[in-house]
Amino acid sequence: MHRKNVSLEDEDRSVDGSRRSFLKRSAAAGIAAAAVKIGDPVAVAASQPVIENGIPVEKLSIKFSVNGKEQSLSVDTRTSLLDALREQLQMTGSKKGCDHGQCGACTVIIEGRRQLSCLTLAAMCDGRKVTTTEGLASGDKLHPMQAAFIEHDGMQCGYCTPGQICSAIAMLEEAKNGDASHVTENIGVVARGQKLSKAEIQERMSGNICRCGAYPNIVAAIEEVQAGGAK
Ligand code: FES
Ligand code: FES
Repeated sequence: MHRKNVSLEDEDRSVDGSRRSFLKRSAAAGIAAAAVKIGDPVAVAASQPVIENGIPVEKLSIKFSVNGKEQSLSVDTRTSLLDALREQLQMTGSKKGCDHGQCGACTVIIEGRRQLSCLTLAAMCDGRKVTTTEGLASGDKLHPMQAAFIEHDGMQCGYCTPGQICSAIAMLEEAKNGDASHVTENIGVVARGQKLSKAEIQERMSGNICRCGAYPNIVAAIEEVQAGGAK
């Protein structure tokens, strides 16, 4: 049988070329899949790049609810929710501690779940409901968690406090819904409306760092709200 005379170098090039083309195809497919997963609205709403300071910037329009008020923004696709809140909506209650998902200072509540706004793209919030620390009180009446933090002195410098309070509120809802945590003893029997122990509260709040070390008072405040106090 006639075999085409192929040198090892040719074979290497061919294998290398196939690998390269496979990787290219995989990357393209991955990017396309990611775009669909993140959300069609993002892909659909994306506009042509505009030039800002000589740099092409992809902008898109989003509409979302912040503390019950509809907001429309034009955002760079790379803008985090935290930056959109602080720099475009001038809502500076949510703090930027690390901007890397490690401190919890930027915690907000999205559709009832606590989220790190520094790790959330503003584009992902299109059509969603966001609650920040500015939206917790009803007029002059503080949210029970805010009142409990004051009563128990759950803050010193206060930098972590907006994130702590948003996190604590949503965390108690998670417990009510029967979500387990790392220290839940028997995850097979987690009941809805469970009463959290101190250890459970500490574990569930462990993503919110307090550099002032106000932890005992923060936990006491949460325990009081859980018990129905601090109204
Ligand atoms: S600023 Fe978001 S986790 Fe630290
Ligand atoms: S009160 Fe200062 S960082 Fe928590």
